[in-house]
Amino acid sequence: MGNKYSLRQKYARLMQGAVHNDGGEHGDEPMCNHSNNPVFADILHRRLQRRQMLKGSLALAVTSMFAAPAISTLRTRPAAAQSTLLGFKAIPVSEADTVVVPEGYTARTLMPWGEPITGDYPAYRLDNTGTEQGMQVGMHHDGMHFFPIEGRSPYEGSSDDGLLVMNHEYVEPRYMHQSAMGMALSSDQVPMQGNTRAADEVLKEVNAHGVSIAHIRKQADGTWAVQRNALNRRVTGLTPMELRGPVRGSNLVRTKYSPDGTRTRGTLNNCAHGVTPWNTYLAAEENWAGYFVNKDTTTNAQGETVPNLPREHARYGVATSQSRYGWELADTGADEYVRFDASTKANRAIADYRNEPNTFGWVVEIDPFNPNSTPIKHTALGRFAHEGVVFQPPIEGQPIVCYSGDDARFEYIYKYVSTQPYHQASASGELLDNGTLYVAKFNDDGSGEWLTLQFGQNGLTPANGFFSQADVLVNTRTAADFVGATKMDRPEWGAVDPETREVYFTLTNNTRRTTEQVDAANPRPENRWGQIVRWMEAGNNPTATRFQWDLFVLAGPEDDSQKLSGQALDADNIFASPDGLWIDGDRLLWIQTDIGESEQNKGDFAQFGNNQMLAANPMTGEIRRFLTGPIGQEITGVITTPDKRTMFINVQHPGATTTDAEFAAGNFKSRWPDQSPAMPPRSATVVITKNDGGIIGS
Ligand code: FEO
Ligand code: CA
Ligand code: CA
Ligand code: CA
Repeated sequence: MGNKYSLRQKYARLMQGAVHNDGGEHGDEPMCNHSNNPVFADILHRRLQRRQMLKGSLALAVTSMFAAPAISTLRTRPAAAQSTLLGFKAIPVSEADTVVVPEGYTARTLMPWGEPITGDYPAYRLDNTGTEQGMQVGMHHDGMHFFPIEGRSPYEGSSDDGLLVMNHEYVEPRYMHQSAMGMALSSDQVPMQGNTRAADEVLKEVNAHGVSIAHIRKQADGTWAVQRNALNRRVTGLTPMELRGPVRGSNLVRTKYSPDGTRTRGTLNNCAHGVTPWNTYLAAEENWAGYFVNKDTTTNAQGETVPNLPREHARYGVATSQSRYGWELADTGADEYVRFDASTKANRAIADYRNEPNTFGWVVEIDPFNPNSTPIKHTALGRFAHEGVVFQPPIEGQPIVCYSGDDARFEYIYKYVSTQPYHQASASGELLDNGTLYVAKFNDDGSGEWLTLQFGQNGLTPANGFFSQADVLVNTRTAADFVGATKMDRPEWGAVDPETREVYFTLTNNTRRTTEQVDAANPRPENRWGQIVRWMEAGNNPTATRFQWDLFVLAGPEDDSQKLSGQALDADNIFASPDGLWIDGDRLLWIQTDIGESEQNKGDFAQFGNNQMLAANPMTGEIRRFLTGPIGQEITGVITTPDKRTMFINVQHPGATTTDAEFAAGNFKSRWPDQSPAMPPRSATVVITKNDGGIIGS
């Protein structure tokens, strides 16, 4: 039998000078921001003085003092009759191992992990090889888009024929390998062979990451099925990719694989996604840092041996003892796995992989209609734990504008404005290679500023340790610290209202925020429940450098939450840890939750049941629960067909709450969706239709 190691043990060893990498759930979202830019303790104090106790208990005051003033700054909204926007009856919370949708709706699974979509179309088996996994749907589905088959517009065209494109965020090795069965493995542990890993198991895990592109078509009976089409493709952790933008060719990305610093292999930990106005797909690289290890050390003043990582590793949480899955330990010693060890081994950067982590943390563009295209990492959008990318609706002749959140505790929200104007007839990914990156500062009075992250501006100069725009971008977090951005409660997905251009972002939670660290946009200490912030650019001009913001909802239970109306959430809509977010063409705001697996169905979190999806009216703030998922999962990824009559959502990591002992005994907490004792739980897409053929949510 092999042995195993645990992320939590690993992170417990990571105390290292300036870097304190405290691991989150299954290695996600490590906290790496120890910068000293303000957390607005002084602002809080001013707000406290200005907004004297409104009413009631301290618990109520916590929300009222901070949230109500922000909400009260709401701009006047169009008085359209929107009470019919939410046409379904809310469903209750659920702890069942199934997907529940409202009365009158049907949910069916599609494209579970392991379904063959390309190459030799190998059928799913537990003992599929690594190569076979590369021809199958990846694991742990996340962001997703339905591209109508005409290939002209991301939101117009066929509603029964198209390409479904989705990210695969991470893997749970224990459910993937025959060798793991019977071992006491938790969700973040891998089966080891002594001190190495079986190379084919590593290949299988690498190939289960990345992006799946599959032609799907609606069948005569109303179900959807994968079509065997030459457009079908797997992009994985090994697919050759090109670096573009200011970092291309920089000394910071030169490696043994790419001595000229123009290429890298693969995309990893792709969480939410983006869709460009020119009909391509963007995969965001989120918690990539832990996939690498850098064992470089130095001797400190006390004579102790301590980790010695460059800031472009340390500020992102690159591991110092063992990587997340130990891929660098593959027993063949192949170069594509050795590269996950970013320790300095040679006398020159182009002879080892010390710079390999610098080729991750970017936004990756994939043309789903060209299976031979090389994915592009667009470095101008910055390097961080990109949750996803959302675009303002493009304006002919104006720059394109998009936003991306950095999902870790106390990290930031960013905006990119292209230098070149958008022209529908000629728009391409080049718009993402030359532009200005900004980071958000949320002021206590409801105003906000976009701070420029440009070499030579705002003190980003050699005197302060920044030597080029490539340096600023590889060290985006450090640059954002320097200019004084606002530290947020884990920015996850964003969404842009297609009508008003208001931008919404989920802030999922942050239990590390102290009372001294609260600010108006992150108003709760030990924030267990999360909130949704939104803003409008000054003059409703997407390129503006100022904005007005408010809070759309403070999530939580009935005694610690607040809707736009000022009322608390109730049985129809209590939720926690908002993560996925999307506004559909009818302006329904879809909210998906990701309560971490260590908290799901336990203690104060039990009242929320399994992770869920809700729909909100952005004008009234009304919210209703639309869907509940099976056991142990999160709901993430949502898109409809152009006619809005078919919705696709993803169920990620069902069964992740299974303990190591339960796993060893074969007692998996979830067997969704197959519900067979012969099958492990599998992430899958869910297709939702209304039984009367109507518009989803109506
Ligand atoms: Fe991968 Fe931030 O959720
Ligand atoms: Ca997410
Ligand atoms: Ca997650
Ligand atoms: Ca999350």
